[in-house]
This record gives sequence, structure tokens and C-alpha cells, in this order.
Amino acid sequence: MNKYHRFVATAALTLALSPAWAQKFPGLADTPPMGWNSWNKFGCDISEKLIRETADAMVKNGLRDAGYVYVNLDDCWHGERDANGFIQADPVRFPSGIKALADYIHARGLKVGIYSDAGALTCGKRPGSQGHEYQDAQQYARWGIDYVKYDWCHTGEGKAQRNPVEAYTTMRDAIRAAGRPMILSICEWGDNKPWEWAADVGHLWRTTGDITHCWECEEGHGSWSSLGVLNILDKQSALRKYAKPGQWNDPDMLEVGLLPTAGENRAHFSMWAMLAAPLIFGADVPSMRQDTRDILANRDVIAVDQDRLGIQGFAFIRERGVEYWAKPLVNGEWAVAILNRTDEPKKIAHDWRKHAIGDDVSGRNADFNKTDYDIRDLWGGKAAGTTATPLNVTVAGRDIVMLRLSPRK
Ligand code: GAL
Repeated sequence: MNKYHRFVATAALTLALSPAWAQKFPGLADTPPMGWNSWNKFGCDISEKLIRETADAMVKNGLRDAGYVYVNLDDCWHGERDANGFIQADPVRFPSGIKALADYIHARGLKVGIYSDAGALTCGKRPGSQGHEYQDAQQYARWGIDYVKYDWCHTGEGKAQRNPVEAYTTMRDAIRAAGRPMILSICEWGDNKPWEWAADVGHLWRTTGDITHCWECEEGHGSWSSLGVLNILDKQSALRKYAKPGQWNDPDMLEVGLLPTAGENRAHFSMWAMLAAPLIFGADVPSMRQDTRDILANRDVIAVDQDRLGIQGFAFIRERGVEYWAKPLVNGEWAVAILNRTDEPKKIAHDWRKHAIGDDVSGRNADFNKTDYDIRDLWGGKAAGTTATPLNVTVAGRDIVMLRLSPRK
């Protein structure tokens, strides 16, 4: 047994021997969580004013009613610990405290998320939870927190690094002991293959390093790189079998509204829906443009993401920079997305009957010689024929066509 196998075996044994109470809260993420998070746009520059205005704007522009219920504070909300070791909010940026802010958010029919880290410090060098897990979870429960994102900075190097299974399981148990249902979002960037051990620990786990607002790029920051939309997309396929109701691969938060073109924003959003990814967007809500709002509020696309089978989609054709993706849905339906990765428009002539779709993970398949499907164009918002005749469509550069196929009765 090598070090890695020993690590997985220990994790499996620890989980198998856990008493019933030492389990993550069930039923909190039967479909991928949806909401807003402060990091992608605001970084450390957050305040109670910004968060309150964001919550108000999400109610007003209909994004709450479209399903985005979590309002998540990311790094840098923290002040110091008090004399008893309880964490407090930054008194300048959050003068009313987190409890008052959570009450404000709850009163608007929304939920609240917070951020901490398994090390001594967060990535933004605020106090981390190491050695204070139970106390922090208790404090979050008192404040009325519903969602905890738990990061992995300052957890040590090499042999001295904290064991990730121990670290995340400790926070899970601390949340359970605090008694308030809270989603646990595991954010160790996929470094320790959480998909292999975290199904009983957290509700979602990051699969990669941080996303950034570009179509395809890798930006180095010394010891780590942030990744563009396509770079992240290309790392997801092997993980699809691990996604299920209650346990989601997290390809990081949405850059919708922060990418330069409408097509890129639309394609990014569509692909995250095809991946059954958590839909946590980061754009500024009070000043949000109507086209960004309309992308995020597309109920047909959201329904693909939120489909209760919880099956992550897959590419079934890749040619000339165009990818055809499929995602099995309830009632024998399918979502199909045709993604143009290139800068040039692509003419598509797709004969459904020549390309059956088969999925070895879910065991579902679509044979278009046996069954015809009605097609709905999810960005056009209209019916678009059937699979009995070939699909002829042009997909603009860096854009997507997304369809829902329903078997004809
Ligand atoms: C990173 C994390 C980001 C954000 C940031 C805050 O580790 O991946 O999503 O939370 O820390 O400092």
C-alpha cells in the first residue's frame, strides 16, 4: 500500500465507523446550490452595506425567485477573536455584526453563507478555524449561517501539512454538533481528490484552482494559477461519476457578467448547467446589466442544472473546436449543448439519426432511429422542430446552442 492508498483506506474506515450523528446534514443540496458570492468581483473589499444592497437587488431583479437563494460572504469579513476565542466580524466593515446581517438577509427570503479556512489563517490572512472548529461552527449557528465554504490556505507544507480528511471531517462534525443545518463547501482546489472521500463529509467540493474571467487562459500567481472557463471545463470529464444529489463537483463560481461578451457569458453559464455545477455567481448585483441578469435568470437553463436526477453531462462529439454535450434529464428527456470553443462561427449540420447518444455512467441512451424527440431551443426560448430531420444551425464564435429534447408520445 502506498501513501495515497493508505490515506484513502484510513478515510474510508473513519467514515464507516462514524456514529450516526457524525454525518453531514442531509437534504441540503439535493440539487446543486444556487446563489451569489462576494469573491469574484469584490475580493476582500466587502462590507455589510454591499451585502445588504446585494440581497435587496437579488429580490428586486428576480434572481432570488429564479432560485439564487444563498448570499455568501467570502474571505475578509473577519475581525479578531474575542477573549474567549469566539470569532467576531471586522468592526469597521461590519459594524452591526453578522447576526444582524443574517437577520436582514433571512427577512428577504434568502440564506446566508460564510467563509473560513482549515489553517491558522485564511488565504486573505484573516483568522482561520484550525483549533477553533467547534467554536466557529457554534458561532455561525448562533448567527444563523446556512452555508460554510471552507478553504485550504495556511494548512502547512509537505509532511507537516494538515490531513485533509481529518480537517474537513472535523468541520463537518463541528457543524453537526452546533445543531444548525449548514451546507459544507469543501475548497481544497481538488488537490487531495475530495471526490474519492468527501461524499459523506461535504455537499460540494472544488475540483480545480480558482476560476478567472477569461475564456481560455492560465494566469500564474507564483505557487498557483487561476484558470479560464475552458481550462476548467476540460478538467471535469473524469469526475462526472462522482456527482449525485447531495454531493457535487464544484468547478468554481460563475464569472457570468464578468466575461467580455454575451456569447461567452451564455456559453459559460450553459456549460456549468450541463455539468450540474453549483450556480454561485459573482457579478455586482446592484449595478447588474439587464443582459447579465437575463442570462442568469434563464429558467430553462437553470432547470437543466437543477434536474433532480443530478447526472453530470458529458461530451459525445468533439470536432473542429466544436463540442456536443449531453445530459440525461428526468422523464427520458435530454439536454444537448453545442459549444463553439473557437473565435469563428461554425455551421452545424447534425443528423441525429447518425449519432445515438449513450451514457455508461447513468446507463441512459437516446437512439434517434427508434424515438423522435421534440426540440426546444433554450436560448431562443422556442420550439425548434424534432430530431426526425437534421439540425442546421450556426453557432457564433465563443458561443453555444442549448437544446432540450423530449421524447414524442
Ligand atoms: C481561494 C478560493 C477562492 C476564494 C479565495 C479567498 O483559496 O479558492 O474561491 O475563496 O481563496 O481568499
